[in-house]
Amino acid sequence: MENQKVIFTIFGGTGDLTYYKLIPAFYQLFLGGRILDDMTIIVLGRKNKDSASYREEVKEVLMKKVSNYNENVFVAFSSKLHYYEMNFEKAEEYEGLNTFIDSKDCHNRIFYYATAPTFFPFISEQLKDKKLLDVKGYARAVFEKPFGYDLESAEKINATVSKIFGEDHIFRIDHYLGKEMIQNINTVRFSNQIFSAIWNKDSIDNIQITVKEKDGVKDRGGYYDKAGALRDMVQNHLIQILALVAMEPPKNFNNNSAKEEKVKVIQNLSIQSELESHTNLIFGQYEGYRDEVKVDPDSNTETFVAMKCFVNSKRWEGVPFYLKTGKALDESIAKIVIEFKTDGSSTPTNTEKIPNLLVIKIQPEEGVYIRINTKEPRSESKLMSVNLSYCQSCDIFYKSPDAYERLLLDILNGDTAMFTGWEEVKSAWELISEVVKKCPDKSKYLDTYSKGSDGPISSHDMLKRDGRHWWRVD
Ligand code: BG6
Repeated sequence: MENQKVIFTIFGGTGDLTYYKLIPAFYQLFLGGRILDDMTIIVLGRKNKDSASYREEVKEVLMKKVSNYNENVFVAFSSKLHYYEMNFEKAEEYEGLNTFIDSKDCHNRIFYYATAPTFFPFISEQLKDKKLLDVKGYARAVFEKPFGYDLESAEKINATVSKIFGEDHIFRIDHYLGKEMIQNINTVRFSNQIFSAIWNKDSIDNIQITVKEKDGVKDRGGYYDKAGALRDMVQNHLIQILALVAMEPPKNFNNNSAKEEKVKVIQNLSIQSELESHTNLIFGQYEGYRDEVKVDPDSNTETFVAMKCFVNSKRWEGVPFYLKTGKALDESIAKIVIEFKTDGSSTPTNTEKIPNLLVIKIQPEEGVYIRINTKEPRSESKLMSVNLSYCQSCDIFYKSPDAYERLLLDILNGDTAMFTGWEEVKSAWELISEVVKKCPDKSKYLDTYSKGSDGPISSHDMLKRDGRHWWRVD
């Protein structure tokens, strides 16, 4: 195991991501014996506090968030956790950080950028200039999403950080790739002949990828109002899911083959947006969004996106991929629905045709089911659809690790397979930039929807026009 003796330094140590995702994930890894004793975590923040008070804050979070909290484990775990006060925007403060890290006498260093992307280049340059990367072991950089704000900014960031760290030492996080059922897509698809043989335009009618959230923007209005759903969710999570579903079988499942195949999908992805007629691209904003904290009262930022795209390849010619995501909706759910064609099906005395579905449930329930048709009992040939279902999260003895647990472990082990490569990020930004260019003034196209609804009606009309509908799944 490579993950021995390492210092893990987090820029943005007092942000929500660190308190609510990273620290709990580290705690679980520690509890499960999956990180070793000689690991040190240093969190950086501008606020004036010491390690003891930071540990108390963390303890409170863990006690609320973690069902298997244990005081003795916490005491051992928190001894690895140190708070270091610094303003990472000030170049003169990095020498002090170097001295502090040096005092821990460890040559493997991981730097986690839980900050806005604008800071990625500056921090990286300071780490290099102040010799924090001059180590006998390895120096890795982990970048939270979003990696940039648009294509241009992403390219600028990448030019700097890739020169400093090198692609093999860069981990661009898309936490959806750490989710159990996202990691299961390849297995479901490639290890089952019944699916791998029909995974194409001849058998598949359309694919729907939905990630809906009940919550609004909460206290993230400042960030979100500049990003919107397109940048916050589509550019990364939804496009990554689509790429995994649509990619050609990689030569092998090692690091680079799958990434290369995903890049090809993203590069061949097209959105034929005819905004005026609300045809293939729908933007929505929930009522009351403009009153949220740190949101511009005249904001035209979209909190909902639905779109139809095509992958221009032999396999997927003519098959629409419908994507939908939004905040303040009726439910929190992430799922992939693959709807099969009905052309080849027939029922002896019945012309009724009901499509088969393959549904991959990502969250909150994790599982997979196929919907098939049987004869309704006692009827002669009336169709009845039934689900052949596997619910992974229903198993009381199994608890899926949080996405961050899996990803942190990969970072410690130096495995970049579940992280997005630069070419993927770049192609996704290219696509988003094209969409943004097509609608410089979103105010004309923004539909409002009520909180707790299923989003704007126009997103249903988009499918209705194609003779389809969004599948709601149990
Ligand atoms: C993040 C987005 O990447 O993903 C958030 O910035 C969103 O806006 C979150 O709420 C959703 O992640 P999850 O794991 O809760 O589905």
